[in-house]
Amino acid sequence: MEIIINSDPTSAARLAGGQIARLLRDKPDAVLGLATGSTPLPLYHELVRLHREEGLDFSRVRTFNLDEYLGLAPDHPASYHRFMQENLFGHLNIPAKNIRIPKGTVVGGDLVEWCQGYEDDIRAVGGLDLQLLGIGTDGHIGFNEPTSSLASRTRIKTLSEQTRQDNARFFAPMDDVPYHVITMGIATIMDARSVLLMAWGSNKMKAVAGAVEGPVTAMNPASILQMHPHATVYLDEEAAGGLQRADYYRYVFAHKPAWQLL
Ligand code: PGA
Repeated sequence: MEIIINSDPTSAARLAGGQIARLLRDKPDAVLGLATGSTPLPLYHELVRLHREEGLDFSRVRTFNLDEYLGLAPDHPASYHRFMQENLFGHLNIPAKNIRIPKGTVVGGDLVEWCQGYEDDIRAVGGLDLQLLGIGTDGHIGFNEPTSSLASRTRIKTLSEQTRQDNARFFAPMDDVPYHVITMGIATIMDARSVLLMAWGSNKMKAVAGAVEGPVTAMNPASILQMHPHATVYLDEEAAGGLQRADYYRYVFAHKPAWQLL
């Protein structure tokens, strides 16, 4: 894991945006795994800026989102379909046919088949080149809550009460927060050729410390990224607050060889 500690989310997003821009310039039809929540917003602003001001082209990019609430129609104000349209897709030149987001309205016996189809579709386009991730206060990635199988694939999950409370700000009242989601699994995420995890704020400090410096354990699903061959972690100072080796990560970044692109 490469740990990059930044003064604030905006400067982190500028660096992370640069990493994505380099990928798209090398491979204009790259396959991106995308995330929702508050964390990716500074990065999405930066991608929109890169598109508008520097002509970064998304016309051949294909995307697969990590997760969606079960039971929410695409036009529900709190759905991730709506989130992605408002915060990213509506501002880029990405064709609608290139966008995939788990379908929140699949029910019953069709779910297993639908989830298998999502995995097949990712594989059919050659796999994810880069997966964006936030991290839950409990260490979840996607909606893979603690004790999720580290070998899991796209499937239905039940949200923990902590995650429902963390996400209650998008719903009114709290009772409306769904209990179930479709999420890519941990093995789906690990198959991506590179992974870019972001975390901001002191409420993520504990989960980040466990993920980066703790044991690899299903109790902190993000800790599996220690086993990933190309995982980059962008933090602000607050989210990095619990790291014992923060000075070393800063030292590594300061002495990064010029040829070693992110
Ligand atoms: P947040 O959620 O970006 O809204 O903090 C992160 C996550 O649950 O992965």
